[in-house]
Amino acid sequence: MKKTLLILGAIVAVFAAQAKDYALSTPNSTLIISATEGKAPHFLYYGSRADVSDVKASGRALSEQEAYPAYGTNCIEPFASLVKQHDGDNAVKFVVEKVTESVDGTITTLSILLRDVAHPTLAVKLNYSAYSDLDIVKMNTEYINEGKKPIVLQKYMSAFLPIQSDNCVLLHLDGSAKNECNENIEPLTNGVRIISSQTGSRVAIFENASFMLGLNGRLDEANCPVVAGTLVWMGNFHFEFHNTLKSSAKTLFMGGINPAASDYTLAGKKSLVTPEMVFTYTTNGKGEASRNLHRWARKYQLLDGTKEREVLLNSWEGVHFDTTEANLEPMVKDFAALGGEMFVVDDGWFGPKYPRNDAKSSLGDWGVAKSKLPNGIRPLIDLTHKHGMKFGIWIEPEMVNVKSELYEKHPDWVLRHPDFEPTYGRGGGQLLLDLTNPQVQDFVFGVVDDLLTQNPDIYYIKWDNNMSMTNTQSLYLPKALQSNLQVDFTLALEKILKRIRAKYPQVVIQLCASGGARLNYGFMPYFQEMWTSDQTDAYHRILIQWGSMNFYPSNMLAAHVGSAYSKYTQRLVPIKFRFDVASMCRLGMEMVPSKLSDTERAYAKRAIAEYKTIRPVVQQGDLYRLISPYEGDKNFTSLMYVNESKERAVVFTYRHLIWRETQMPIIRLQGLKADAKYRIREVAPEFENQPVALNGKVVSGKMLMEEGIVIPELSKWYKSNVELNDMRATNDWRSVVLELTEVK
Ligand code: DGJ
Repeated sequence: MKKTLLILGAIVAVFAAQAKDYALSTPNSTLIISATEGKAPHFLYYGSRADVSDVKASGRALSEQEAYPAYGTNCIEPFASLVKQHDGDNAVKFVVEKVTESVDGTITTLSILLRDVAHPTLAVKLNYSAYSDLDIVKMNTEYINEGKKPIVLQKYMSAFLPIQSDNCVLLHLDGSAKNECNENIEPLTNGVRIISSQTGSRVAIFENASFMLGLNGRLDEANCPVVAGTLVWMGNFHFEFHNTLKSSAKTLFMGGINPAASDYTLAGKKSLVTPEMVFTYTTNGKGEASRNLHRWARKYQLLDGTKEREVLLNSWEGVHFDTTEANLEPMVKDFAALGGEMFVVDDGWFGPKYPRNDAKSSLGDWGVAKSKLPNGIRPLIDLTHKHGMKFGIWIEPEMVNVKSELYEKHPDWVLRHPDFEPTYGRGGGQLLLDLTNPQVQDFVFGVVDDLLTQNPDIYYIKWDNNMSMTNTQSLYLPKALQSNLQVDFTLALEKILKRIRAKYPQVVIQLCASGGARLNYGFMPYFQEMWTSDQTDAYHRILIQWGSMNFYPSNMLAAHVGSAYSKYTQRLVPIKFRFDVASMCRLGMEMVPSKLSDTERAYAKRAIAEYKTIRPVVQQGDLYRLISPYEGDKNFTSLMYVNESKERAVVFTYRHLIWRETQMPIIRLQGLKADAKYRIREVAPEFENQPVALNGKVVSGKMLMEEGIVIPELSKWYKSNVELNDMRATNDWRSVVLELTEVK
């Protein structure tokens, strides 16, 4: 028996010393890594589903491409890892020690343990995971310091992904507050392209941690190979694209935590798990890439990703800080009469000592401002319930105003340098709490805990964050660990959110950061939805929602109907267009409903009722983009959602400006069953019982997809003031929503 074991052991050892190719496959893609004990691992392939021999025979396997290059070994290549040892040595040679494969439900993971040759107490684990049900692979790394002395991680990327292409097009999102997630598509040129963020808390305010690459010189919706990726991290991120497209037909991508000013001291016997980079590969264009990410988000990442979201009224744009009983109560009643399902009190309700009348005070003091709500929030909750709606409330728990009781008690709980005046945020007196301080962690948890303990029937919280990390010193961390701040702050936030979710798994929490400045997959396990933007001008919103939906699914994007004249652009947009834009995502309103005219109110009521009927398709369906507001003459936008069975679809089409001769586009639909027949119904027409001509028609899926539809009503314009009324106050901004239902 003993002898047999010995022989078996020998076979395993011989086998392990040989190069082995590990293929991880999803339904339509494959990733291949080659690992040999004692040598650096190599990256062979990420592309269409294939077996190793086919990939090698086609010549598409990369050769000599290290899977995780580190500084000190082959530094003419970009490196994903840079580690400074306790003795100052910063050269590393990682070699494979062990490879393990494991299966957990739909996820197969390959873990490659690397060890440094010169300092064997340093190990790095490379994790690659593939899903069997979706075209998603994930990568991350774990840095393990087995020594007793601290080491410093100077670059510690989550993923290194070589991509083969000789003509690569990059899609990324950039923006600013009220102008988030602009879609940018540009050719990658030879050289290095970096996309990163360093804003610390509002990490997505300028650049988003997501990208797509079109690999054959284009980024079509349906017909081209695409790699898309997104980083699951609530802190600063860093993407590098090293392009040698002409010389070697390659883009070397790496992504992870931004190493800028973030040298991370890793104490002895400690490890750091880096965030996951999630990728999808498809040959079916950027449309399929988006759908793959959306499906994964809804199924695996977003909290309550498959649950329906309610239609709500948020008080912010209606009354701003004027959250008095007198203002709020009528809003509750009026919104209930429109068919609303939830009422949310935004900023302004708190501050027992310093009532929150503007952005200059009160953050940190989460008791009611009696001057506005003399009887507390209870009567408002009761009134909301009486009208059959749920209740929600706004907080900004990571912040403090200098003018607050909290700051008077704990001036050392903030991020700032001890020796100079901090930079103040919004209102001139706002500071970010130092989440690395455990007392602050308890406090932030306590803000939510107290609110929900005192009012267990609060259904929804809007969690805002209106300041970037402009002050980058912690009064809690020792001087020698200040450069751990960005990472430790993010890990502390994660710890607080986990604690909240352990106690309150159900409460719906919307994440907001001056709008969509925190749009990132890292927040998804803790927040059911995100406020897409403070920009409620419906035209501007089309661009923002279109951009965001490249990566983020519609059900997590809150979209509210604002007033006719946009607060931010003064553009006048009719109510139907505003509703149709907000109805592409999670619908809400943000205005004083009593200010609507009677016709507008009647329309709003119809639109909300109609949204409820299309909601399952909009919130859970697959997105197909048909006409881009970023391309062509930019005068039309069209997109559609199709449910899983392909029996129902909803098509949204918008005409932006009016021209004497508006060129009507042919809208070719996608994602339907070619052999099925669909009945068309107009959803919430501008005037009741006056639908467009397509209403009621039955058309085959084949015809709808191959030849498409035209909606001539969208080019109609009205000549006299008599025809222009409060529903249609301008000839610009027309929209039509069509529901398709399979006729059996
Ligand atoms: C910024 C948010 O984006 C707004 O929606 C609103 O909640 C304000 N903060 C309140 O101060």
